[in-house]
Amino acid sequence: MCGIIGYVGDRPCYELIVRGLERLEYRGYDSAGFALLDADNDRYALVRAVGKLEDLRAATVGADGLEGPTTGIGHTRWATHGKVTLPNAHPHVSNDGRVAVVMNGIIENYVELRRRLQDEGVVFASETDTEVLPHLLARHYEGDIVAAVQAVLPQLSGHYAFVASHTSEPGRLVAVRHECPLVVGVGVNEMFLASAIPAFLGETREVIYPENDEIVVVDRDAVHIYDGFGTEVTRPTRTWEGSEEAAEKGGYDTFMLKEIHEQPAALWDTIGSRLGADGSISLDGIGIDDHVLARVDAVHIVACGTSYHAGLAGRYLIEDWARIPVSVEVASEYRYRTCLAGPGDLVIGITQSGETADTLAAMRVARERGAHVVALTNQTDSQAARDANGVLLTRAGLEIGVAATKTHTAQIMALAVLALKLGRMRWSLTEAGVRDLSEELRRLPDAIEQYLLSSAPADVAAVAAKYVDKGFFLYLGRHVGVPVCFEGALKLKEISYVPTEAYPAGEMKHGPIALLDEGSPVVVVAPDGHVFDKVISNIQEVRARGARVIAVATEGNEEIALHADDVLWAPRTPALLSPITTIVPLQLFAYEIAKGKGLNVDKPRNLAKTVTVE
Ligand code: M6R
Repeated sequence: MCGIIGYVGDRPCYELIVRGLERLEYRGYDSAGFALLDADNDRYALVRAVGKLEDLRAATVGADGLEGPTTGIGHTRWATHGKVTLPNAHPHVSNDGRVAVVMNGIIENYVELRRRLQDEGVVFASETDTEVLPHLLARHYEGDIVAAVQAVLPQLSGHYAFVASHTSEPGRLVAVRHECPLVVGVGVNEMFLASAIPAFLGETREVIYPENDEIVVVDRDAVHIYDGFGTEVTRPTRTWEGSEEAAEKGGYDTFMLKEIHEQPAALWDTIGSRLGADGSISLDGIGIDDHVLARVDAVHIVACGTSYHAGLAGRYLIEDWARIPVSVEVASEYRYRTCLAGPGDLVIGITQSGETADTLAAMRVARERGAHVVALTNQTDSQAARDANGVLLTRAGLEIGVAATKTHTAQIMALAVLALKLGRMRWSLTEAGVRDLSEELRRLPDAIEQYLLSSAPADVAAVAAKYVDKGFFLYLGRHVGVPVCFEGALKLKEISYVPTEAYPAGEMKHGPIALLDEGSPVVVVAPDGHVFDKVISNIQEVRARGARVIAVATEGNEEIALHADDVLWAPRTPALLSPITTIVPLQLFAYEIAKGKGLNVDKPRNLAKTVTVE
């Protein structure tokens, strides 16, 4: 989604702004721009470009006024309202040229606001919803940009975060967030505003997190925050503990490959402090008393994309180990259904970023119904974490590749810990059972590490090379293999742009089998377990139609090679935990196909890392 960076301070800020935008590239964008306030000339140096940041840098050649300014705002745009065009790129500026604004999110009532402003004589330069902001601020400006923002806020509906500047107040930026992320980076004689911390990592680690609807005013040496009534409030400054190195590729060609290889550490860090050697399980931070947890009637999981697939995998664990009924639903649907969750239910919002708009909305709906809501997230300071009763944290570290990998397996791991705890609390697991399963969980990081260090990744690459030109893949699996198929198929389509279909293998005869033809590639997830034989029957059926089968199977299984054209091996683990292991070769498979096509796997087209709009 859109990225925002703002700077006020002592240093010329052109490079700081563009570097900040580069650090936000991972969020996905299609155009970019910045406005630097030249205090001497009382005007903005405005540069924008369609395409990548290289195009923006190219557009600065010959531009005046870039060297001096020490106040600036920058933006990477991911189009929502209005096509990908130069006039639609941010920043947007008022007709008098005095107010400049960058925004992330959507102003839902912009049509009405735009019409009103046009009736008053305002000329619009873009098709965007954002452009109403500089015009509204200019009309309400009477010498104080903060007062102008205060006057404009009640007129807006939607979810947004914006940063505004006025030429009469150089050295000052004003920002507001409403359901969209915004953080302040506090430096020495300089301040940053950004949609995400990586934008200013390298400059400062001191961070302030404003709350929804607070007005944030940053000057070079001070941050003032006001609530909706104009009363100044204090928000603590915290030190960001994440590693800067994580934002670099660390020797790998791509962030995605690096993050695939970081899975052992991500898994280990996620369970490390939770599973005691004595069989104890800690759900520290979950914010719900044990006696309440032990009695929940049902678990509802809401999430989007890859996080939703983690939820599907977690359902098998919770239902089997804790014997609690679990529903899993995409958040964008859940939020608009009649929500029947209540005080007896546990609702888990899974979101690695903690900022996905639909997941936040679904969690809110459940909270309003009195359900106990937990955020399963990778970001302690995210909106999801703040909105929930408590947090189940994954410790996967910063994930930059748009295609989620390490956060996905860490999410399933966290759900496994929760399932274990619930199972023990409800006596559906014995003490010995919990000890054995904890041991299996603790074995997983090492098993995946060995796998990644072995020749297996090269073997996956060799198999992928045979299929790189195929125009369609069908993914089939049963039981816990189903969410793995969904996730494997999503990985392939999002980074290689090859159409994929993922189905429970038992459903194949009800339609998808018609897709198969001589040579059609079918990926079959077939780990050892009680449905293995059933899956083999499905393999026979697709092979009888001429399909080529790429099976994902448990290391050491001797039978699978008799049935498949190619095998991608996965480390051995109990069937219920196999979604954590079998997805790894499929991540690599998707990666290799995309690389084989020469595509940019870290920044696939049209996708954003964090979807902060509905
Ligand atoms: O930050 P979240 O976990 O809430 O994100 C949810 C989805 O947007 C995300 O998983 C998306 O599907 C990824 N591109 C998958 O690789």
